[in-house]
Amino acid sequence: MPDHPILVVGGGLAGLMVALKLAPRRVRLLSQAPLGAAAASAWAQGGVAAALGVGDSPEQHAADTVAAGAGLVNPAVALAVAREGPARIRELLDLGVPFDRDATGAFRLSLEAAHGQPRVARVKGDLAGRAIMDILVAAVRAAPHVEVVENVALNSLLQAADGRVAGVVCDQAGRHSLFHGSDTVLATGGLGGLYRVTTNPGIAVGTALAAAYRVGATLRDLEFVQFHPTALDIGRVPAPLATEALRGHGAVLVNADGRAFMSAYHPAGDLAPRDVVARALQLEIGAGRGAALDARGAVGAAFPNEFPTVFAACMEAGIDPRLRPIPVAPAAHYHMGGIVTDAAGRTDVPGLWALGECASTGLHGANRLASNSLLEAVVFAHRAALALCADTDAGSGMAASQRLRAATPVPLLDASTLAMLRGAMGEDASLVRNAVGLQELLSRVQSWVTPLGEPNPLLVARLLVSAALARQESRGSHFREDFPLTQVVACSTLQRLPH
Ligand code: SIN
Repeated sequence: MPDHPILVVGGGLAGLMVALKLAPRRVRLLSQAPLGAAAASAWAQGGVAAALGVGDSPEQHAADTVAAGAGLVNPAVALAVAREGPARIRELLDLGVPFDRDATGAFRLSLEAAHGQPRVARVKGDLAGRAIMDILVAAVRAAPHVEVVENVALNSLLQAADGRVAGVVCDQAGRHSLFHGSDTVLATGGLGGLYRVTTNPGIAVGTALAAAYRVGATLRDLEFVQFHPTALDIGRVPAPLATEALRGHGAVLVNADGRAFMSAYHPAGDLAPRDVVARALQLEIGAGRGAALDARGAVGAAFPNEFPTVFAACMEAGIDPRLRPIPVAPAAHYHMGGIVTDAAGRTDVPGLWALGECASTGLHGANRLASNSLLEAVVFAHRAALALCADTDAGSGMAASQRLRAATPVPLLDASTLAMLRGAMGEDASLVRNAVGLQELLSRVQSWVTPLGEPNPLLVARLLVSAALARQESRGSHFREDFPLTQVVACSTLQRLPH
């Protein structure tokens, strides 16, 4: 046992970063897809938020993060992360990430919604995620301490007799494979794949949450799902984004008749908080007025250079954004809830760590501030690597853990039930919720469980919907039309396996 490698499950930004930083410890990195191929991190267009601009400060960044999180951000976490941000960005620069700079070497920073100032470090306009991931994938492949195992999907966790997590069970080409680890780091991303319309890879169905819950880890605030207001409404699955930085540049949301509508919903207009903009779009679309993003005036001819990813997706769909507004609609984008961790990514189950979107660190609260996710991934990967490398009693801790509990693989969800689940989640656990719809959804989700067991996506959906039912208020991304007000005191929903 003591000579088992550290297992890292997930090939997105947090997984790659922690794997690299764990040198010289041996790491086995398990990825469901070929590295870089289906990681939401690679699709991040905006960039990494950090207080890098003249006149900005970590204190202001933290204050914007706390305000966006609607009462559920831990202010100490927000401030510590904001203070660490610039150092982590410089590290990415040293690794070769070509952040956009001006002639003086200063960062070119984008403005995104609910940020008090331009604060998002970008790469070639909207290519930050792709550029960072390409560099990290190459570095991980070249790192002698990392063994990469691709096309293996997390199924469940292995536990030692004393409860310590001792590895994982994976689904691999129709069979179960066991991987043992001295410690296990979950970094599998979010759960947008539980929704029919999403910007996430379809494999992102929250499996880490289910696996962690089954071994007794505490989950927090699962009801908070952020919908990105401006996914391209062009029938593609997953839906490509039209980055919020476009609105930061001055692009405007308009109806089919060309009328700008956001100022009717919020004083901050097109740069109102994401949940407000997403609900406004849903209302406009639902009322038959349509919604599109007009970047002709603000970006115009500069589109191919300034936003090459969005430009390519539009052109592929036959829409030239220099000549006409881009059809957009909200899509499930980011999950604020997750596995509770401490400031270094440790969960409350020995041997188990969680990083990135599957973790709940206290940074995002009820609504994530744009581009704080890549920041969180690199900050917590750095801290987890330091803590794991400093963990001198990892070996002795394993001695008592030699005996393993029997592995209990979870049945897979068949494709047709997953499709029904996605449709149902999009109907009743979406931007606007109510008790009747949530209760009905919960019953449907439970009815799909067979005597073989509860597949991971159904467990995650059940927990999410239960948390949404329990939160009888509206807060951040969670809007209950039957409880439209926000309670004075903000409380988290915590969920743990009943004993
Ligand atoms: C965007 O560029 O609009 C997405 C950034 C994010 O979700 O943080």
